[in-house]
Amino acid sequence: MDRHLFVIFGATGDLAKRKLLPALYHLITGRDLGVCVVLGVARSDLDDASFRDDARQALCDAGFSEGEVREWCDERLHYQQVAEGEDHAALADRIADIEATHDLPGNRVFYLALPPSAFGPTVQGIGEQGLAEAPGWVRLVVEKPFGRDLESAQELNQLVHEHFDERQVYRIDHFLGKETVQNLLTFRFANTTFEWLWNRDRIDQVQITVAEQLTVEGRGGYYEQAGAVRDMVQNHLTQVLTLIAMEAPSAFDPVAIRNEKVKVLDSIRPIDPADVVLGQYTAGEVAGEGVPDYRDEPKVDDHSTTATYAAVRLHVDNWRWQGVPFLIRTGKALERKVTQIAVRFRQAPVSFFESAPERTELHNDVLLITMQPEEGFELRLDVKVPGKRLAVRPISLHYEYPQEGHVPEAYETLLADVIEGDQTLFVRADEVEAAWRLYQPLLDAPPDPFPYPAGGWGPEAATALVGGGRSWITR
Ligand code: BG6
Repeated sequence: MDRHLFVIFGATGDLAKRKLLPALYHLITGRDLGVCVVLGVARSDLDDASFRDDARQALCDAGFSEGEVREWCDERLHYQQVAEGEDHAALADRIADIEATHDLPGNRVFYLALPPSAFGPTVQGIGEQGLAEAPGWVRLVVEKPFGRDLESAQELNQLVHEHFDERQVYRIDHFLGKETVQNLLTFRFANTTFEWLWNRDRIDQVQITVAEQLTVEGRGGYYEQAGAVRDMVQNHLTQVLTLIAMEAPSAFDPVAIRNEKVKVLDSIRPIDPADVVLGQYTAGEVAGEGVPDYRDEPKVDDHSTTATYAAVRLHVDNWRWQGVPFLIRTGKALERKVTQIAVRFRQAPVSFFESAPERTELHNDVLLITMQPEEGFELRLDVKVPGKRLAVRPISLHYEYPQEGHVPEAYETLLADVIEGDQTLFVRADEVEAAWRLYQPLLDAPPDPFPYPAGGWGPEAATALVGGGRSWITR
């Protein structure tokens, strides 16, 4: 990897401490990352020494030992304060100074680990100081959420494009960095077994579940403004859907892959309000622990109508998927943490088992692709019960990935890609806008959320979305 300066805006924040610094440390020490010098930027009045102390603590909290991280922090971490309302001139001087001291050729990453309201002013500041023009490559990384609706995403894209070319922009959706999500492409396009069945002729419906046990956990202020549709559906679940539904790209490169994902988004029919169920958790118990009512969480309005659960039935109107519902659901304070795709195949067209004397109810074959907490595949099929009389029962063929070796954390993968200049796992400008466009009517006129007790599987009303007596599939 090229020698470069990695600038983290929001360097004293939670994301920088819990994810970015540990991922960079792992990358730099575990792989040959060349020379990476880190410049932390934030509003706090810190100097290099106190920033290094904080970073050391963050790395120790992430499981590294004080001894191993000390030298790393001392050698390559720097800090620059940019107070609220201050321009970025001092930052520009500092960057020039650090690049000269460390003999860096002007390759720069600007990582915005900031609250969304600070994205615009920071991009503006970087642009105005000419920091986006350097002798080397310059890349801008923007955290989620990219905008809070279609209009704000368009405005942000416009501002970003005033200073950066789209080829320099890396919009993060950390789900795309998960090993398991990337594996979807390998599963689909490295094997032919399922690809022939991957269409409306053979598939009855697709269900995508991202269930969390977590509540809003002190993030009430943010969550009240976001809710499940902005926080999870518009980005993570929709990204997984595009990977399941897309056509084979013409090449394994960022342009071809993202073109196919955008085509999926453009093919989704406008959402019918009858295809949406929202929910909000009430007091209950998750994993044996008491959970308060969402409205009693800190910084949450007593009469809040923010959804902590969302289930949506989507229709991808193209030749491959016409008529196959894609059911997506996510919720906080649910019974279990699970991220999973269930592909339910159609029933056999003719059943000649009906006259058999014993239990001969046939089940749809189901392919379960589980991404969290463990990673694996399961194929559910019907087989004959051993014995003379005819009876059928479901069995499961099961494969679980061995948890051996170091599985890179999503941020590790994504940061390595930024530094290497690979945009495949990042969301393109038109893609993020297409996703907002899809959910905008739902954001404009959300239905009232149904209350659901913490520790369950969400509102009962979501069952009706699955249709025809079917149910949500959860492993
Ligand atoms: C984040 C959301 O983007 O994703 C959180 O803001 C959510 O609300 C988290 O908990 C889930 O990510 P993961 O990696 O824990 O599945």
